[in-house]
Amino acid sequence: MAVPQSTRLALFSAQPYDRRFFEEARAGLAQHGRASVDIVYHDTALDIGTAVLAQGCDAVCVFVNDVLDAAVLHKLHDAGVRAVLLRCAGFNNVDLGTLAGLGMFAARVPAYSPEAVAEHALAMILTLNRHTHRAWNRVREGNFALDGLLGFNLHGKTAGIVGTGKIGLATARILRGFGCRVLGHDPYPAPAFEELGSMVPLDDLLAESDIVSLHCPLMPATHHLINHATLGRMKQGAMLVNTSRGGLIDTTAVIGALKSRRLGALAIDVYEQESALFFRDHSSEIIADDVFGRLTTFPNVLITGHQGFFTIEALREIAAITFDNLECWRAGQPCAHLLPAA
Ligand code: NAI
Repeated sequence: MAVPQSTRLALFSAQPYDRRFFEEARAGLAQHGRASVDIVYHDTALDIGTAVLAQGCDAVCVFVNDVLDAAVLHKLHDAGVRAVLLRCAGFNNVDLGTLAGLGMFAARVPAYSPEAVAEHALAMILTLNRHTHRAWNRVREGNFALDGLLGFNLHGKTAGIVGTGKIGLATARILRGFGCRVLGHDPYPAPAFEELGSMVPLDDLLAESDIVSLHCPLMPATHHLINHATLGRMKQGAMLVNTSRGGLIDTTAVIGALKSRRLGALAIDVYEQESALFFRDHSSEIIADDVFGRLTTFPNVLITGHQGFFTIEALREIAAITFDNLECWRAGQPCAHLLPAA
């Protein structure tokens, strides 16, 4: 495969913070003896209509809600693109079969800061449990009443971690620090989990946990892992936390469980239909998504817009590893972060 010496990279879904950290890392390339990279930033997401913007570029850099299905990958390939650089860990938005068929290089950033996401999961658990978001609004209005702000001690509670990979482990460590009993479920359990808690079947984890936190990837096997049936197996009044991918949860079933009070609280940083909403300011528009609208009406639901990764340390690492991946492709070196074969 002919690889250019100086690379032209189209970066989609570019936000001001992407420009800041990618330009910072780009400025350091020469110091590290690396070839130069020209970056064309596109605010728009990558999809079939915008793929043409990559014309003349050797590589594209994409994020979680960019579309990399068969049609888009073919269009990118026709435009001359030979490398896909994901500046995220998840790759559920990529058609791996087409990618392999076209012989394109594709790499991701599998771990930039597991602690960033784990700490955000904890921030959501603490906020939702102690209602600090609602308390702040009350205090600003001179309302110092406590009724409605009652929480529970994390100490002594059981927390279930579904997916004991890098983020799951980091979350388990923090929860242990709070004095929680930690249960884990994972078809490929990490040995490091042994000193943090017990691995159990999913049904046992759901039945015993006061807090269930999802940290597994979205794949066909995990799509709607939390559904009507699994919600029915959860402990009455438990808290469900999802900082992984929206598709792990059947949102309509979750709304039903919140209405019936089987589910005690829900914290989500990700949402099934988030690509139409997240990472953009829609505050002056009418949001047409009624399922999302219903979620925002519950006092016991906390939503953030996919910001688990959003720390200085993580963004710096994402840019650095993306350039490492690009350099592997450019120099024809082995890359440890290739997407798996289809
Ligand atoms: P990882 O690959 O280190 O860990 C994932 C774990 O899930 C693995 O141990 C795997 O064996 C396990 N797993 C696979 N199938 C499972 C199943 N059916 N049930 C239970 N466990 C299963 O990945 P990492 O870095 O911990 O990330 C986890 C997920 O977090 C990513 O896939 C991504 O979707 C999400 N993420 C969210 C971010 C955010 O900003 N909210 C940022 C980064 C990642």
